[in-house]
Amino acid sequence: MTGKLQDAAKKAAAEAAAALVEDGMVLGLGSGTTVMFLLAALTRRMRDERLRLRGVPTSYRTAAEAVRLGIPLLDLTAEVRVDLAIDGADEVELGTLALIKGLGGALLREKIVAGVAQRFVIIADAGKKVKQLGAIAAVPVEVVSYGHEVTARRLAELGGKPALRRDAQGAVFVSDGGNIIYDCGGFAPIDDAEGLAEELDATVGVVEHGLFVGMASEAYIADNAGAVEVLRRER
Ligand code: A5P
Repeated sequence: MTGKLQDAAKKAAAEAAAALVEDGMVLGLGSGTTVMFLLAALTRRMRDERLRLRGVPTSYRTAAEAVRLGIPLLDLTAEVRVDLAIDGADEVELGTLALIKGLGGALLREKIVAGVAQRFVIIADAGKKVKQLGAIAAVPVEVVSYGHEVTARRLAELGGKPALRRDAQGAVFVSDGGNIIYDCGGFAPIDDAEGLAEELDATVGVVEHGLFVGMASEAYIADNAGAVEVLRRER
């Protein structure tokens, strides 16, 4: 699913999840193209229903778009209670709602914000739904630039087949946090996402990885006709 049809699905999922938002909420605002539709839907609700909302952005791009649309932003401090975080995903596993995230490079802040949210909801087009993680996306692993080739060797030993991410111009991609990313396609099929996440967490030089296990409670998934199904975590 590509282009306009995929955009219609992303918009439908985003608008369905925007309906969960209540007056006064502090929202975790995810990153990516689907979240851009969410920001537009929230702006409409703020205008039409006079909702007072504040957002905690997970990337510079999301922050810039929120500012442009007039959504007030908060820094993530210990006093901030995030009522609801809404974000996109690159893969959503049926049943577990385990995720692969980070194709846009914002996985670190996304995971920090999702981790403190009272409720974490995913919005995605149906192309992101998989029976088992690893079916379509590589696992992004964010590493510190110091000694990154050594860290990559360790990722290779774990079976990850790490590929250094580059931008459209061919330069090494640098995340909002100033780190670099290896996309690891070799882990697929991922039978034990929790176990793999633990191995990556324990790897020196790894800042964060794109496996989000046991975090999302619901996923709003839309097809290209705009029909939205709500998946809930079952295990
Ligand atoms: C950003 O780093 C990602 O985690 C996004 O949430 C994910 O890539 C989904 O992006 P799209 O909504 O653009 O597909």
